[in-house]
Amino acid sequence: MSESRLHLHFLSLILLCCVSPSSFFDLNIDYSSYVVCGPHQTQALTEFMNEFDSSQCNLSDPFNGVWCDNSTGAVTMLRLRACLSGTLKPYSSLFRLHHLRFLNLSHNNFISSSLPFEFGNLSRLEVLSLKKNRFVGQVPSSFNNLSLLSYLSLSRNKLTGSFPLVWNLTKLSFLSLYSNYFSGTLNPNRLFELHHLRYLDLSENNFSSSLPSEFGNLNKLEILSLSSNDFFGQVPPTISNLTLLTNLNLEANQLTGSFPLVQNLTMLSVIVLNDNQISGTIPSSLFTMPSLSILNLHGNHLTCSIEFPNSSTPSRLEYLHLGQNHFEGKIIEPISKLINLKVLDLSFLNTSYPIDVSCFSSLKSLMQLDLSGNSISPASLHTNSDIPTNLKILLLQGCRISEFPNILKNLEKLEIIAFSDNRIKGKIPEWLWKLPSLTTVFVSNNSITGFEGPVDVLVNSSLKNLAIGINCFEGEIPILPFSINVFEASNNRFTGSISLSICNYRSLT
Ligand SMILES: *[C@@H]1O[C@H](CO)[C@@H](O)[C@H](O)[C@H]1NC(C)=O
Ligand SMILES: *[C@@H]1O[C@H](CO)[C@@H](O)[C@H](O)[C@H]1NC(C)=O
Ligand SMILES: *[C@@H]1O[C@H](CO)[C@@H](O)[C@H](O)[C@H]1NC(C)=O
Ligand SMILES: *[C@@H]1O[C@H](CO)[C@@H](O)[C@H](O)[C@H]1NC(C)=O
Ligand SMILES: *[C@@H]1O[C@H](CO)[C@@H](O)[C@H](O)[C@H]1NC(C)=O
Ligand SMILES: *[C@@H]1O[C@H](CO)[C@@H](O)[C@H](O)[C@H]1NC(C)=O
Ligand SMILES: *[C@@H]1O[C@H](CO)[C@@H](O)[C@H](O)[C@H]1NC(C)=O
Ligand SMILES: *[C@@H]1O[C@H](CO)[C@@H](O)[C@H](O)[C@H]1NC(C)=O
Ligand SMILES: *[C@@H]1O[C@H](CO)[C@@H](O)[C@H](O)[C@H]1NC(C)=O
Ligand SMILES: *[C@@H]1O[C@H](CO)[C@@H](O)[C@H](O)[C@H]1NC(C)=O
Ligand SMILES: *[C@@H]1O[C@H](CO)[C@@H](O)[C@H](O)[C@H]1NC(C)=O
Ligand SMILES: *[C@@H]1O[C@H](CO)[C@@H](O)[C@H](O)[C@H]1NC(C)=O
Repeated sequence: MSESRLHLHFLSLILLCCVSPSSFFDLNIDYSSYVVCGPHQTQALTEFMNEFDSSQCNLSDPFNGVWCDNSTGAVTMLRLRACLSGTLKPYSSLFRLHHLRFLNLSHNNFISSSLPFEFGNLSRLEVLSLKKNRFVGQVPSSFNNLSLLSYLSLSRNKLTGSFPLVWNLTKLSFLSLYSNYFSGTLNPNRLFELHHLRYLDLSENNFSSSLPSEFGNLNKLEILSLSSNDFFGQVPPTISNLTLLTNLNLEANQLTGSFPLVQNLTMLSVIVLNDNQISGTIPSSLFTMPSLSILNLHGNHLTCSIEFPNSSTPSRLEYLHLGQNHFEGKIIEPISKLINLKVLDLSFLNTSYPIDVSCFSSLKSLMQLDLSGNSISPASLHTNSDIPTNLKILLLQGCRISEFPNILKNLEKLEIIAFSDNRIKGKIPEWLWKLPSLTTVFVSNNSITGFEGPVDVLVNSSLKNLAIGINCFEGEIPILPFSINVFEASNNRFTGSISLSICNYRSLT
């Protein structure tokens, strides 16, 4: 992967930032029974903090502190975030707080601590978050004693071993093991007896398993994320039992077989299946699912064309990723009817005909278009062609383009263009630098000979990233604007010296 593509991969994720599953989930916790503790109980907090370097703890932060039961006065809630540093010991005073119902120690730094067996003594816990610490080793079997837990997050640690023993935790509605080193199989597993689960996140682990049909028992699930593991085989048909599901993320596994049976799951708003080996056709009813707004099928083995059922209500889809599949038939024409699209990825489609960019002119909300790796009809890149005017990001890498696309002239909102790996000849036109929002231009690996206009043509632009390596640029390097952050220009025929004033560019990296 060339350096410019690497940057680009990062940039093209910008518009997807909002897809974190936890932001979709609503925790119903009643805080009214937790009240301010008396001085004696507050001492318990000091005692616990003294076991660590707690100099960073900010007790004015309303998050941090201890709370007590409104009638008995026992310590029932403890929260400390992002400040403790040291080892959590088995004899820690924490494990004497037997009345704790709510414990949140997320974002601390328990250097290479394992999870003490004594957690099992906190058998009144209902909420336990140990998210983003540095816990290592296996989850002790004593966790199975925490039978009142409804919320358990062990995400973003370095925990190992097979699926933790949690089958006694029949009240669990939230379980996140996201980003650890758990491994092994889910098949069979008493996980599927946790009938109250609404949120299950096992993503970014090392599970290697087929998906058991018992997933169908978890019919309260709203959010299911299994991404970035080694799950393989067909998604079981019983998934169609999960009628409350809003968010399904199976990204980056080894799933095969035909498209999962999700058509009847009317609450689904997010389906993310990219980077698997799912084959066959896309069910047409997908595009009329009432809530679906994000559909990512990039990098599978899907074939044939897309057909939409005739429907009076337009699809709600906003994000559609179909790149890197094996579509052969016509898919562009039906896509032009998805008028609410904001992000469209049709990269590397291997269509037998050149794509006409003006086919997307009906997509008035489109902000990001990726047609990289396809051949593009040259006429459709000329000024008088029609293109969605709200585009911010246009990716046309490796599209066999031979002239700088004049169509950009009309795109006042453009921020990022990537035209690397084409055959563009001539000079970069002067009007490009007048586009008011343009920050990023990647045109590496073309046959461009220079910049049209005077040597200071870039100075008043808003450019931050410019990659022009592997081209035929001649003469002097133009004066860069102060906003520049990344400038890559190797493998050209520039002459002259680089002005020492470049040292004054504060943001250049
Ligand atoms: C304690 O809180 C619970 C739940 O909010 C409430 O029902 C109860 O009346 C409170 N008890 C006292 C003694 O304040
Ligand atoms: C501590 O928390 C309070 C309340 O959130 C905040 O105003 C203050 O800036 C914090 N102090 C430090 C040093 O972070
Ligand atoms: C935890 O419970 C065991 C017995 O169940 C007891 O021996 C031990 O002292 C308890 N530990 C703490 C820290 O309370
Ligand atoms: C635990 O604390 C973190 C902040 O460190 C917060 O983001 C998270 O929502 C808290 N979890 C619960 C269950 O309150
Ligand atoms: C489980 O909790 C009970 C108190 O409810 C306690 O007596 C027992 O020691 C705990 N067992 C383990 C394994 O921690
Ligand atoms: C499971 O929970 C029950 C209480 O609901 C408790 O009596 C039992 O000891 C627990 N089993 C294990 C293995 O912790
Ligand atoms: C994940 O599992 C594979 C074998 O299934 C193993 O080779 C690899 O080292 C494991 N990775 C981690 C981070 O545990
Ligand atoms: C669907 O859920 C119901 C209710 O939990 C359960 O009885 C049934 O076995 C499930 N069906 C499948 C196919 O998983
Ligand atoms: C979807 O619902 C329809 C009508 O209720 C039913 O005929 C069909 O079998 C269901 N499909 C799946 C995959 O559950
Ligand atoms: C959709 O409508 C068009 C005409 O408007 C018709 O030719 C086509 O057969 C219809 N398709 C389906 C699947 O009903
Ligand atoms: C691309 O399409 C051609 C036919 O147009 C086909 O022979 C080839 O296998 C396809 N390649 C891929 C990777 O799908
Ligand atoms: C330059 O682009 C061509 C396609 O136009 C591609 O085949 C070649 O590998 C690229 N070269 C580099 C160094 O990336």
